[in-house]
Amino acid sequence: MNFTITLLPGDGIGPEVVAESRRVLEAIARRFNHSFHFRESLIGGCAIDATGNPLPQETLDSCLTSDAVLLGAVGGPKWSDPKAGVRPEQGLLGLRQAMGVYANLRPVTVMDALIDASPLRPEKVRGVDLIIVRELTGGLYFGRPQGPEVIDGERAAVDTMRYRESEIRRVVKLAFELARGRRKKVTSVDKANVLASSRLWREITHEVAADYPDVELEDILVDACAMYLISRPADFDVIVTENMFGDILSDEASMLTGSLGMLPSASLGVAGKPGLYEPIHGSAPDIAGRGIANPLATILSTAMLLRSSLRLDMEAKVVENAVARVLANGARTADIAAPDQPRTGTAEMGTMVIEAMENSD
Ligand code: IPM
Ligand code: MG
Repeated sequence: MNFTITLLPGDGIGPEVVAESRRVLEAIARRFNHSFHFRESLIGGCAIDATGNPLPQETLDSCLTSDAVLLGAVGGPKWSDPKAGVRPEQGLLGLRQAMGVYANLRPVTVMDALIDASPLRPEKVRGVDLIIVRELTGGLYFGRPQGPEVIDGERAAVDTMRYRESEIRRVVKLAFELARGRRKKVTSVDKANVLASSRLWREITHEVAADYPDVELEDILVDACAMYLISRPADFDVIVTENMFGDILSDEASMLTGSLGMLPSASLGVAGKPGLYEPIHGSAPDIAGRGIANPLATILSTAMLLRSSLRLDMEAKVVENAVARVLANGARTADIAAPDQPRTGTAEMGTMVIEAMENSD
């Protein structure tokens, strides 16, 4: 089959990890006789440097006319002056909004081979298999008004948390659908004891739940959820929550696996439109260009891309199995290595995954 994939390497370690994913996709194409056409575009800080715009029109056009988009990371100290007129992150937020990808799926699975990489005790994290469904195109990230203002001659700033019923309903529905194919439990996370937007969130969630009598629903306040993710992470199945809460909780949840460098994500919108796939980690400027970044979160995002956007389920499984095998064989990038373990570099890790794919039946 023929597919067009836009690659957005971005900043920091983005180009290094996306390069490995591209090699993985090329190996999949060879093995399964597909033809993947790659288009590479600028986003974030590198796009600001080249064009002054973190999301050039050309990039957006390429994304919207692709079958899927794979992104590395955006941002870095070079562009993080709070007084700067444009920021790399605006490119990513603009892209999510323009693609209409309202649901960000962040699966957190603790692989047995990596159980010791977690800062939590093995008995706490064994068997963790949860997925965070983060609302991605609303809430505090996009609410208006937003920006600096002056109150009584004093500097002030405002952000707005606003949700419409339809924005809540579609993402919560997606969470329930997902739960049906899993352990049939949805945890909705809000701050309904304080926030009006959370009270609406809870109301709509219960309306949606009425259509899914086979799925259990629990409501948890976001502060309690932060605690339960550490004290009883294996109890969660599908967690659904608004944009900002999901951003914070997914970084926390990544630590169950030992490293932010392991977590993939898929951002999905209306069926039939391209999805956006990205690791949940950032651009890690401190290690950029050194060839030591963990490419597995991006490679696992590539597996999600194969499955959700290209409908290539078998190919996705081959990639995921290869990653599991490489880890079981003891390969470790610096972020997941024990102090006495040898460290595998970014490209070497990519090569090992490709070899494991080629040697699988
Ligand atoms: C994420 C990141 C982004 C976000 C940043 C880079 C804007 O933290 O994808 O989790 O906050 O959504
Ligand atoms: Mg984040």
